[in-house]
Amino acid sequence: MPDEKSYSPGLEGVVAGISSVSEVDPEKSMLIYRGYDVHELAERATYEEVVYLLLMGKLPNRKELSEFTGFIGHERHIPGDLMDMIQAYPDTAHPMDALRSAVSALGLYDKTTSDLSHNATVEKAMKLIAKIPTIIAASHRFRADLDVVDPDPRMTCAESFLHLLTGKKPDPLAVRALDVSLVLYAEHSFNASTFAARVTASTLSDYYSSIVSAIGTLKGPLHGGANEEAIKMMLEIGSPAKAEAWTLEALAKKRLIMGFGHRVYKKGDSRVPIMRKLGQELGEKLNQPQWHQMAQIIEEVMWREKKLPPNVDFPCGYVYYMLKLPIPLYTPIFAASRVAGWSAHIIEQYEHNRIMRPTNIYNGPKEVTFTPLEQRP
Ligand code: CMC
Repeated sequence: MPDEKSYSPGLEGVVAGISSVSEVDPEKSMLIYRGYDVHELAERATYEEVVYLLLMGKLPNRKELSEFTGFIGHERHIPGDLMDMIQAYPDTAHPMDALRSAVSALGLYDKTTSDLSHNATVEKAMKLIAKIPTIIAASHRFRADLDVVDPDPRMTCAESFLHLLTGKKPDPLAVRALDVSLVLYAEHSFNASTFAARVTASTLSDYYSSIVSAIGTLKGPLHGGANEEAIKMMLEIGSPAKAEAWTLEALAKKRLIMGFGHRVYKKGDSRVPIMRKLGQELGEKLNQPQWHQMAQIIEEVMWREKKLPPNVDFPCGYVYYMLKLPIPLYTPIFAASRVAGWSAHIIEQYEHNRIMRPTNIYNGPKEVTFTPLEQRP
């Protein structure tokens, strides 16, 4: 029988698989995607190159990239029936719930849903990576009583997303900032949503079901939902002058400070320096330095009081705010990027599969005498 000694709450430190997709090195605060340092990828590669790297295992050459982006560009449309379904979702639906439901419905329209082969899964992944931004933007515009924008196949993923959302040609500064955040959000080893996707795939369930599991898991505020909560917190604080007192008071009340702490990184999240620098630069260019200033103060207090560094969701929150992205879309945007990593893991799981089936310690009653229905009080 399993005993308490072999139990790790929250599966902390448990090795649940072997993967060649990415590695988090908490000692060096380093993250690599298929061997490449994420800092170098964020600086020198586009989101499309990173998606190719994650799915195919290597960086594309010029021809491969052009074919890949061409395919994604032409796959942005979603079936008319699905568009009608999205329009019919209640106005009160959370965008992550709308996204989860729409991805689930997409599986109904794919005649190859039950094909788990490598090539079929890669193709499904490429199509879904193309369609998720269309779903998020359409769902947002329906709720706002705006006409849905037709996707432009020539645009990059970041450019297209901003265009689908606003109907306007986006500013290159915003495109670049969003692209960097997509690169950083694309993959992060055995995090909760990726693990959820792998658990579903391990039963040999289909690709869409695995992604739906992942979206539902990402939604929670302890995971992807933290980027929305982080900016709401900064808006509540209001100004850098109030940041120190607010944070101290929140800590005294044992409040969770969203965007801080991490299960794996204890010295610092590898992605934060890139987003922080981006946040500072954007703040200067857009004349909104207060967000970076406030963030610096909160970070300083959190380190001094709790030795807790920020995670990527903290700077992402205020970077997205400066880009004028609607707050309820921050976590769906995270999903639009992370679908690349989820897909790479699902492919890997199918290729080296053994069903995930852990065990537990039973702490309920034993040897209870059965009472017939008519004698129960
Ligand atoms: N604010 C205040 N205290 C915190 C925080 C925080 N953000 N994070 C951890 N702590 C405290 C926690 O209360 C605990 O204190 P004590 O030992 O006195 O009980 C201690 O630090 C250790 O934390 P833990 O809860 O054991 O850490 P965990 O590994 O179980 O949880 C976490 C990790 C990320 C869920 C947690 O740090 C947290 O809830 N952070 C806020 C939500 C957040 O930012 N999530 C994003 C995660 S990273 C990116 C992503 O996945 O999207």
